[in-house]
Amino acid sequence: MLTVRAPATSANLGSGFDVFGVALEAPADVIRVERATETTIEVTGAGSQYVPEDPEKNTVGAVAEALDAPAHVRIDKGVRPSSGLGSSAASAAGAALALNALYDRGLSREELVPVAAEGEALVSGTAHSDNVAPALLGGFTVVADGRITRVDAGIGLVACLPELTVSTRDARGVVPAGATMDELVATVGNAATLAIGMAREDPELVGAGMDDPVVTPRRAALVEGYDRVREAALDAGASGVTVSGAGPTLLAVCRRADRRAVAAAMVDGFDDVGVESRAYRTAVGDGASLYR
Ligand code: HSE
Repeated sequence: MLTVRAPATSANLGSGFDVFGVALEAPADVIRVERATETTIEVTGAGSQYVPEDPEKNTVGAVAEALDAPAHVRIDKGVRPSSGLGSSAASAAGAALALNALYDRGLSREELVPVAAEGEALVSGTAHSDNVAPALLGGFTVVADGRITRVDAGIGLVACLPELTVSTRDARGVVPAGATMDELVATVGNAATLAIGMAREDPELVGAGMDDPVVTPRRAALVEGYDRVREAALDAGASGVTVSGAGPTLLAVCRRADRRAVAAAMVDGFDDVGVESRAYRTAVGDGASLYR
């Protein structure tokens, strides 16, 4: 039997829609695999009632099929589905790493990214790599034009998950078909600032580069309390706040020392609009880890 811990991830970071992603130190899924003649899946943990155990409908089943690696798979969900924290990507990436090792397939982590992305496509409808890339490779990742680049970045983060659900399909439905030249210039400038901030491990620069005039304002409207929580986090020391992935989690960047205050402010902000939430005090972390 092999065990993998696969981290939650946060995609987009505002200005890097469908391009940027980070692995989070927490939460994470734990996936255990054993060889079998056919794939069976058991799911427990956060939101497990919403995750199908039928291999035809589960992201892990698609990964097992792609690697020709039938197994009994137990998934303990630490990453709630429909949270904006890469729940299906964590399971897909974790299963890809585990089954690749279980059957000695010899693929590198980079080579496993498209395998896990195909698995994720089964549940989300499109094969984005902006969650599976950081889930496998760790750190801050940039997926652009088929190329994945990454950098380690010890940046403090708070991910605040409200008791709300936003489906990725709905959140993609509000993305506008185009942008103006002013919006394009602002987005490129912010994304470049953010990437340099990650490379320098500078939370101020990362926060400054998160602003996005195109996608985030539309998605923020789907998250009750967004403005209030954002303002509360900034007042408590965050340098930037945005929607994590498709939402409803809101992600704040801050100095590590400010995480406790930022987390409390975000939970209070949701509380002010009558929404319960939990905040993960976390940081940019490693990719999935394999335990034999
Ligand atoms: N980049 C994707 C989005 C991540 O924001 O829609 C969620 O699959």
